Amino acid sequence: MKVIFVTGGAGFIGSMFVRLILEEVKDVKIINFDALTYAGNLENLEGIDSNRHEFIHADITDRKAVLEAMPENADALFNFAAESHVDRSILSADVFLKTNVIGTQVLLDVARHRRVKRFVQISTDEVMGSLPEDENSFFTEESPLRPNSPYAASKAAAEMIVRAANKTFGIDTIITRCGNNYGPRQFPEKLIPLMITNALNDDPLPVYGDGKNVRDWIYVEDHCRAIWEIYLKGKSGEVYNIGARNEKRNIDVVRSILDLLGKPYSLIKFVEDRPGHDRRYAINPQKVETEIGWRPRTSWEEGLKKTIKWYLENQGWLERVRDGSYKEYYRKNYGARLGV
Ligand code: NAD
Ligand code: TYD
Repeated sequence: MKVIFVTGGAGFIGSMFVRLILEEVKDVKIINFDALTYAGNLENLEGIDSNRHEFIHADITDRKAVLEAMPENADALFNFAAESHVDRSILSADVFLKTNVIGTQVLLDVARHRRVKRFVQISTDEVMGSLPEDENSFFTEESPLRPNSPYAASKAAAEMIVRAANKTFGIDTIITRCGNNYGPRQFPEKLIPLMITNALNDDPLPVYGDGKNVRDWIYVEDHCRAIWEIYLKGKSGEVYNIGARNEKRNIDVVRSILDLLGKPYSLIKFVEDRPGHDRRYAINPQKVETEIGWRPRTSWEEGLKKTIKWYLENQGWLERVRDGSYKEYYRKNYGARLGV
């Protein structure tokens, strides 16, 4: 039985990873270490095989807790735990630095001490900044790190300390950088679930700026499968970009959601832009395709339909996560923009 240590496994992507691995890889036991911040939710783990899953409620910046939880010689550590939302990092960056940078350093230190066999850092294409619009340019593994938001800067810093741990201490590390994920259980602060939620409530849909910013979307399950395959076949010290060749302008994403829900475009409201708003992300996934042999399985049309269906069928989940702290965040970020 392999033993893997997963951080942030109660969040959107981490919980999908835990579900997928427990379902598809029978000889794996997972230790899932998560602080259950506003974005972590045990409901995301309902129905999994609890015989091969142990949940530990603790913080990755708590060295003692990490030391206690991490077994000797675990086969791998997958670090999903992070503060993950750009708009929150603009409102206040402290916790981003604490979790994303200090937390990663603590995990690296303990992983070295406990002789973890491979350390997989889940990073983001946002560390590479913004690409020009309408140009044939793409992010590759060689693109320079040019983060533009406090969130992206904290994830870039985390990559640097992972790299340093590989070079200085010889830890077996891998960094994966994915584009924008969508799918079930994404917290409704991110574009797609926020627009679905607002449309369901006939509330205005706040589109930043001119709505022509481009994101490269991938269905969350495809991302998780890529991480697992890269863990199995990737080379130590390397970076792997993950993308599904699926660029979309925000306004087109929002219109597709309204079309699928049968709601009018008049709900769209163009609002004040995000400061430092990256114009375009686009990933060249050639390395993961050729070296690892990974390909996405879910088309955009199919993935978006499945996502909307999940939110329609899980409105209780949505209501529970849109609690008092969500409402406070919503007022802070959208109050002036929407006049609410
Ligand atoms: P999320 O915000 O939904 O979940 C984050 C999880 O980490 C939550 O369960 C939370 O409780 C946990 N967490 C936060 N701080 C913690 C701490 N100090 N100690 C322990 N646990 C803590 O995030 P997500 O969208 O699932 O993203 C997961 C990872 O993937 C992040 O590292 C993010 O940077 C990266 N990523 C996300 C995307 C995306 O589109 N969402 C794209 C590329 C990369
Ligand atoms: P988001 O889901 O926050 O992901 P990221 O900023 O990490 O790419 O946003 C995706 C795109 O949608 C981004 O260009 C910002 C835009 N956006 C809006 O226009 N309105 C919103 O209310 C949100 C949350 C995002």
